[in-house]
Amino acid sequence: MKSIRILAWAAVAALILAGGYIVLTAPNKLVGKRNYITSSFGGPFVMTSHKGETFTQKDLAGKPYAIFFGFTQCPEVCPTTLYEITQTITELGPDADKMNYVFVSVDPERDTQTHLETYLSNFDKRIVGLVGDAKQTATIAKAYRVYYAKQPTSDNDYTINHTATTYLMGADGKLVSTLSYQEDAKLRLKKMQQLIKR
Ligand code: NI
Repeated sequence: MKSIRILAWAAVAALILAGGYIVLTAPNKLVGKRNYITSSFGGPFVMTSHKGETFTQKDLAGKPYAIFFGFTQCPEVCPTTLYEITQTITELGPDADKMNYVFVSVDPERDTQTHLETYLSNFDKRIVGLVGDAKQTATIAKAYRVYYAKQPTSDNDYTINHTATTYLMGADGKLVSTLSYQEDAKLRLKKMQQLIKR
């Protein structure tokens, strides 16, 4: 009886240690070159650009890119992020053309291609907007492990909670780094410069 109990506690201890190991090493794995997280990040998708053209993962091949998910009626996170990216694009100067910038709508019900076109005219022209139907949107969000969920509002409308991270992807299509919401401007510029030089 006693030995069984000891064995059980040993198993619990092993699980705790394993859990700690995963938690402690996971952030480092995000920047590693060959691992499960980066190798399965991104993937095939078919969307429509804000200019009305079909846009797939092939249109992003060969150049690094920044990708961010949101919706045009977002009150704060999306306009702030797009404004900040616009700012960094300006700061990058001619190097800015060495990468792509993508804004993916997670509001297929309300965001049409023309909505997106009008909305993006407020920001740098190089930011490409992508829109799709519910299924296409789910596919691209899943590929980039982006969370989004409708949240009803008091006026019988809805808002969308969504991942606020911008993913910085290498020319090889692998995750290189991330920008947090309202990341420090200097750090943002440095991360983008590193991505381009890589
Ligand atoms: Ni947003």
